[in-house]
Amino acid sequence: MIRTIRHSLSMLLSLAALALVPASPSVTHAADKAVRMELPTPAKSGGMPLMQALNERHSSKMNYSGAALSPQQLSDLLWATWGVNRPDGRRTAPTAMNRQDVRLYVALENGVWLYDTGNALIRVLEGDWRAQMGGGSLTLLYAIPQANEWGGAHVGSLYQNAGLYCASSGLGNFVHVSGLHALDGKLPLPDGWKIFIIQTVGLLK
Ligand SMILES: Cc1cc2nc3c(=O)[nH]c(=O)nc-3n(C[C@H](O)[C@H](O)[C@H](O)COP(=O)(O)O)c2cc1C
Repeated sequence: MIRTIRHSLSMLLSLAALALVPASPSVTHAADKAVRMELPTPAKSGGMPLMQALNERHSSKMNYSGAALSPQQLSDLLWATWGVNRPDGRRTAPTAMNRQDVRLYVALENGVWLYDTGNALIRVLEGDWRAQMGGGSLTLLYAIPQANEWGGAHVGSLYQNAGLYCASSGLGNFVHVSGLHALDGKLPLPDGWKIFIIQTVGLLK
């Protein structure tokens, strides 16, 4: 009897210890071979004061180490760029008539992923494509409907959000068109959509 109670207690303690392990990306394979990666909850406070981040925002075009961002940095970057910041589903950047018609993709060492504002990534393409798009730790790809006359303005808001997060976190970044078409015909975009511009982000040497 005592042994059973001890055994149950140690099981409970092990489960409690597991719950305390810091969140890291976990990859689950769905039946249709799509892969979903849950991200840690984004830190929605702290960071550098806004005026200081504005003062430090700049493009970095070299000296990337290529090392991966931490899961927390990745989650924070994506949330800052295009996350939901209100209970009604509105986001960190405005869109005309709140259509939210921008898709944010991120190229990591293990594929290209679509940002899901439910705080996850969904893999849409396998392979490491970062070298074709400027290197760094990752590439952000901004997709919009070709017919949306405001698409460029929307993307500009997003890449500025990302640039300010990078300034606040000491990460390098630059917006560019070199490698813009590297994934043409490979990335499964909705009909009539295109990648408008890309942004290299990364840890610096
Ligand atoms: C829409 C846009 C397109 C850009 N395209 C390129 C590019 O193709 N190649 C590049 O090296 N830099 C590119 N840049 C980065 C600019 O060269 C850089 O922002 C500019 O020199 C100002 O520097 P700063 O960002 O440090 O203020 C681009 C920036 C923007 C906003």
